Amino acid sequence: MLRRDQLVMTDSYRVVVAHEGAETELSVAAGTTLRDALLAADCSPYGRVSEYANCGGRGLCATCGVRLATDIDPDHWHDRLADRFGYPRLSCQVTVDRDMRIKLLDDKLVWGGRDP
Ligand code: FES
Repeated sequence: MLRRDQLVMTDSYRVVVAHEGAETELSVAAGTTLRDALLAADCSPYGRVSEYANCGGRGLCATCGVRLATDIDPDHWHDRLADRFGYPRLSCQVTVDRDMRIKLLDDKLVWGGRDP
């Protein structure tokens, strides 16, 4: 059992987002999906078409992939496959429950790249 002084109360975590050689640091409320946190911070994980045509975070379209630099166990079937075979992880299936580092895909090809 933890003593009172051992308890760490946190309601937000630090998410560092690497993209095109720069880093952005976010403070994200615990329990937020990574996808939602990225969209709220204008750090979209999507390409130019999938920005509008995606499954809304249901784990179906596979267009919200990011690279995780922090080891996070997958609990969604598609995300487990992504983890197993080294594909980008589904940001909609990652819950922010710790500090983490991620990288947006600069070379996203599925459903349109990032460049206009
Ligand atoms: S938003 Fe469709 S799989 Fe993540």
